[in-house]
Amino acid sequence: MNKNIESVLISEQKLEKIVNSLAKQIEKDYNDKEFIMLGLLKGSIAFMADLMKNIDLDFRIDFMVASSYGSGTESSGKVKIKKDTEFEVKDKNILIVEDIVDSGNTLNFVCNYLMTRGAADVKVVTLCDKPTRRKVPFEPDYVGQVIPDEFIVGYGLDYDELYRNLPYIGVLKRSVYEN
Ligand code: PRP
Repeated sequence: MNKNIESVLISEQKLEKIVNSLAKQIEKDYNDKEFIMLGLLKGSIAFMADLMKNIDLDFRIDFMVASSYGSGTESSGKVKIKKDTEFEVKDKNILIVEDIVDSGNTLNFVCNYLMTRGAADVKVVTLCDKPTRRKVPFEPDYVGQVIPDEFIVGYGLDYDELYRNLPYIGVLKRSVYEN
């Protein structure tokens, strides 16, 4: 295990089960519905790569970069779109793929933004949800796992742009971010 990880919160085996179960639900719900799978970079990369391979439907993928965190552990509350979608979203069904919902600021902003641009429908699948941290009301449509208020990294999630490559989700040692 990485020396800066306190404990494993979601193991590789558990991640596989969660992703398979979410993929099944999405496959069922979007069976007769065209959609664009829209990943929010960079956190969603590992989750989206695994999720999309398990959905046996025809769909396009796209990416956005929307950021509200600096290099610290708290959301600034201000969301900036650093990279917009490649595809036109007007009249399209959009399924956003996210690694974590924390304050809710990012997804609240991005969902409103896509609806303003005329998307027909916007739904969100998140691997992790920290509902106790919400600052704005936001409820994802599909949730992999509800997690406690601990600083987690791995499987796409970072601290200061590190640890995204870990194959599991782990709790970061406090000493890493408290100094
Ligand atoms: C993280 C995460 C979510 C957002 C969640 O992204 O991927 O997009 O923060 O926090 P919120 O609910 O408080 O808005 P970040 O801006 O760190 O960028 P990243 O995806 O590149 O890690």
